[in-house]
Amino acid sequence: MNYPQTFLSEVQQQRQEFPGLINKVYFNFGGQGTLPRSGLEAIIDAHNVLQQQGPFSIKVNDWIRQKTELLREAIAQELGVENSTITLTENVTSGCNIALWGIDWQPGDRILMTDCEHPGIIATVEEIARRFQVEIDICPILNTLNEGDPVEVIKQQLTPQTRLVVLSHLLWNTGQVLPLKEISDLCHHYSQSDRPILVLADAAQSAGSLALNLAETEVDFYAFTGHKWFCGPAGVGGLYIRPEIFEFVNPTFIGWRGINIDGKGQPIDFKQDGTKFEVATSSYPQYEGLRAAIAVHNNWGNSERRYQQICQLSEYLWKGLSEISAINCLKNSPPEAGLVSFTVNSNMSHNSIVQKLENQGFFLRTIRNPNCIRACVHYFTLPDEIEQLIKAISAII
Ligand SMILES: Cc1ncc(COP(=O)(O)O)c(C=O)c1O
Repeated sequence: MNYPQTFLSEVQQQRQEFPGLINKVYFNFGGQGTLPRSGLEAIIDAHNVLQQQGPFSIKVNDWIRQKTELLREAIAQELGVENSTITLTENVTSGCNIALWGIDWQPGDRILMTDCEHPGIIATVEEIARRFQVEIDICPILNTLNEGDPVEVIKQQLTPQTRLVVLSHLLWNTGQVLPLKEISDLCHHYSQSDRPILVLADAAQSAGSLALNLAETEVDFYAFTGHKWFCGPAGVGGLYIRPEIFEFVNPTFIGWRGINIDGKGQPIDFKQDGTKFEVATSSYPQYEGLRAAIAVHNNWGNSERRYQQICQLSEYLWKGLSEISAINCLKNSPPEAGLVSFTVNSNMSHNSIVQKLENQGFFLRTIRNPNCIRACVHYFTLPDEIEQLIKAISAII
């Protein structure tokens, strides 16, 4: 791959920020990103502030409030939305749960979910269905990876009773990107229903990897995490809720962070911004870790530049893998993001291959459905690492 030397040294310099990249060749960003040094330092510094100034004091409480809002602002800027639309959560799944339990379900309502969702989200949808006599429809998106139109497939499955569509913006198993704006348009203007159909996007793989402008997509809920493509610490994520539907979503877990109180300390009502769904005490130093991680990425380039770089590198990996006769990349055209999924025709199982690779210092993962191996490249992955991986796989199989 021909990158100018100046560009490569810029990437090399950026990589110095990530201690997790030193001793391995890492392709598991879709599982968890490597925390930058400044993220770790920000977490430690925050703990020190809490201990020196508190841990509970007027000063510390002000400090926490200020840092929390700075994180909200950094996230909102990355997603192209107003700060007030962001709820800070722990992870993707808790954001999806806020949305799913927050809807005023009626018996007979239907949820349309793709056949590519994460087990934790499927389980939540199934429990909603059981508790509220809601029906689940599954739409076959997996088959649209290389042909067909996912929007058309979703359209075919909508009914007048459909209340919510649950999908992933970037599918975690195949790496397909779904056209979120077209899907939101379709659902909001579905003429056979007397109310707009809402869209919940699981953004586990898209937040921090795609260049996003959520306000433009008109998605209703966007649940994401900081610990994957943003490379933040585990335990901090968020949920975007479209302002137009905000008032119709009820909190399920409730606590002091989400309410207004009167002079006697009694609850009056819920806050009227994203904090409505925040509950109580969190591990605030982690917030500083995520904020520092986002700053590290932006120092290198904006989300558009990072996304372009991810796509160039994933295409390089995809091409290299496609040239190995025993490998079949699930996608038959270059990836639209950083996930490259493939099957290997070999006597060895995918698990054994991934285990062998990990023993040699290459970190990938298997996926169960469809049965495949997934490699993720980030914008700071080196072409040389991709070449090494391709050689290592060829030698193993
Ligand atoms: C598509 C998808 N949804 C949900 C999750 C769960 O993420 P979290 O642990 O942040 O809830 C993952 C994690 O791999 C994922 O890929």
